[in-house]
Amino acid sequence: MRVLGIETTCDETAAAVVGLAGDGRGVILSNEILSQITEHAAYGGVVPEIAARAHVEVIDRLVARALKAADVTLKDIDAVAAAAGPGLIGGVIVGLTTGKALALVSGKPFIAVNHLEAHALTARMTDGVAFPYLLLLASGGHTQLLAVRGVGDYVRLGTTIDDAIGEAFDKTAKMLGLPYPGGPEVERQALHGDPARFALPRPLAGRPDPDFSLSGLKTAVRIEAERIAPLSARDVADLCASFQAAVVDVVADRVRMGLRAFRQKAGHPTALVVAGGVAANQAIRRGLTRLASEAGLPLVTPPPALCTDNGAMIAWAGLERLRLGLTDDLTAPARARWPL
Ligand code: KG4
Ligand code: ZN
Repeated sequence: MRVLGIETTCDETAAAVVGLAGDGRGVILSNEILSQITEHAAYGGVVPEIAARAHVEVIDRLVARALKAADVTLKDIDAVAAAAGPGLIGGVIVGLTTGKALALVSGKPFIAVNHLEAHALTARMTDGVAFPYLLLLASGGHTQLLAVRGVGDYVRLGTTIDDAIGEAFDKTAKMLGLPYPGGPEVERQALHGDPARFALPRPLAGRPDPDFSLSGLKTAVRIEAERIAPLSARDVADLCASFQAAVVDVVADRVRMGLRAFRQKAGHPTALVVAGGVAANQAIRRGLTRLASEAGLPLVTPPPALCTDNGAMIAWAGLERLRLGLTDDLTAPARARWPL
């Protein structure tokens, strides 16, 4: 079984071919990606119109490259999957329409994949994680704690009531004059900063509902930055380190409550899985490693390149759905919003 996957919901154009291994995991036959980061960097964030145009310019080439790298043609593919949302609608339409066209000309089944579901199922492709598991999905647009009980069977335990975690990293970076995307930049700065210099809040700490709130933390960074302005390189590093340390604490506290909620609603998880771009953060990973070992659970973090947006996760989600006979017809709509 082999599925072609297409991803265009944000600022990465990606296409991949994924197959199924004997042990039930995925085999990534190709995973091509073109990032538009440089095109958006000047604006400090993703500009939807620029993103959509950039996807149009490269999508054909990228799909051809993914097929070639996997050493297959459309004939060898069992289905075409494309992310149909949630995301920036112009970009979503580009990938979705391309996927539908390829399915139509090749006569292969089409699968309209929910981008969040693709992040949620990635750990099954990489590590063969069994249902049910607790997933922390933390990206630039989303922060959710989910009980993943099966394909298409998700219980949302908690979410953010304001900013997504990645968004908080991005906004904090922008405030401190660091380039976009802010997450990796803040992490780099934090490496040589003092995490104890600024006493920042840990919003919602100890609250039983596993929701997140990040905007107060971001505001606290702004207030400190304004208080000590102009900022030296050391100040920026210390602010980043203090901010990141607060996020690590917030994430650990919220996920601890998420585990409790999971046990009430979905029984015993097989693992704690972290996905989305923020999962690339090593400090957050370390915090979660501690928490998982306290809870006696394996922590599964797919490799960073599969935690951030990519085509392989869309192909894999398509493959999981194809196996269950869950295909879509070519009228499947592009959806800017599409909660799991
Ligand atoms: O999943 P993703 O590639 O795209 C979506 O938002 O769907 O996630 C990107 C987000 C950005 O907000 C970025 O700043 C954040 O993930 N991110 C990080 C790190 N790498 C990426 N945040 C913290 N630390 C990192 N190392
Ligand atoms: Zn994503």
